[in-house]
Amino acid sequence: MKATTIAPANIAFIKYWGKTNDRLTLPNNTSVSMNLDSLTTKTTVEFDESLEKDRVEIAYYGSVRIQADSGTYQRVVEQLDRIRKLSKLPLKAKVVSENTFPAGVGIASSASAFCALTLATVKASGLKLNTKELTILTRLGGSGSACRSIPNGFVEWKKGHSSQTSYAVSLEQETHWHLYDVILVVSDAYKKVSSLEGHALAHTSPYYATRLRELRNRTIQVKKGIHTKNLTMLGIASQQDAISLHCIAMTSNPPIFYWLGGTMSIINEVYRLQSLGVSVYFTIDAGPNVHLLCEEGTVEFLQQNFSTYPFIQQIFVAKAGKGARYSEEHLF
Ligand code: PMV
Repeated sequence: MKATTIAPANIAFIKYWGKTNDRLTLPNNTSVSMNLDSLTTKTTVEFDESLEKDRVEIAYYGSVRIQADSGTYQRVVEQLDRIRKLSKLPLKAKVVSENTFPAGVGIASSASAFCALTLATVKASGLKLNTKELTILTRLGGSGSACRSIPNGFVEWKKGHSSQTSYAVSLEQETHWHLYDVILVVSDAYKKVSSLEGHALAHTSPYYATRLRELRNRTIQVKKGIHTKNLTMLGIASQQDAISLHCIAMTSNPPIFYWLGGTMSIINEVYRLQSLGVSVYFTIDAGPNVHLLCEEGTVEFLQQNFSTYPFIQQIFVAKAGKGARYSEEHLF
């Protein structure tokens, strides 16, 4: 009746942007990502017969525990309801969640949060599901990218053509390649346009069909880059994909601008470093912060190099990590 899980955020090399079905969270394209070992959400769920209403409390990064706002509460309850229906458990639940990193700034906090929530609720309800089924159920929670945080390491979420065929699988375990993500936080202000709205507007961009066409080859490059541990191949394709996503966002109707001035300065610096022979590549989610992909030997150099930039508020370092897992230490 009570379970705690830890789930990682993930960074997509090939990004999910746009859906074919909102209700089922079916994506318009296959996406590929890596779990981030140090950026996690820990969630405890307990079903309790004395509760008349679900309770949801969240400790955001650096803050005390507070009641979830109404939008978040609604989304959590919908996911609890989905699992209550499957497990035939009618009880209300208490949910407590905490993050090791800021939410809503393009570091995939909804992915780790909905992944941890789903796994903890499944376990607490006594439901027995395999990994594929867990990824499908997590996907249905609304933050589709959350399903990529279930399997270990490097993960592909297959587009599929129905709910049962759109699921996530591990391409390689986290031990396959010690790939790093150095995250430069340009702003930790909550993003103005959610990825939910971004997905809904994607099809209004005149370039969206082109993006989908390009993805076939780019996805092959990314998967090959991962399998062969070829950072240049993975990095170049990841950069192209980030630019492509933001091109779609900026040309949607109405347009969405996630980048800030600092974002562009970092991109320019990455190109300068590349011209000097430094093996570093960027990618950017639905926010202004920049993820630098590199190998272990470059991490310290990048931290030092960017430490003097006045607009960089924080630097997080993560490497390829495990997927979601159970914890023995409950939050309450
Ligand atoms: O899973 P959502 O609805 O939070 O959307 C994620 C969108 C991106 O982070 C921009 C891309 C991705 O695939 O992670």
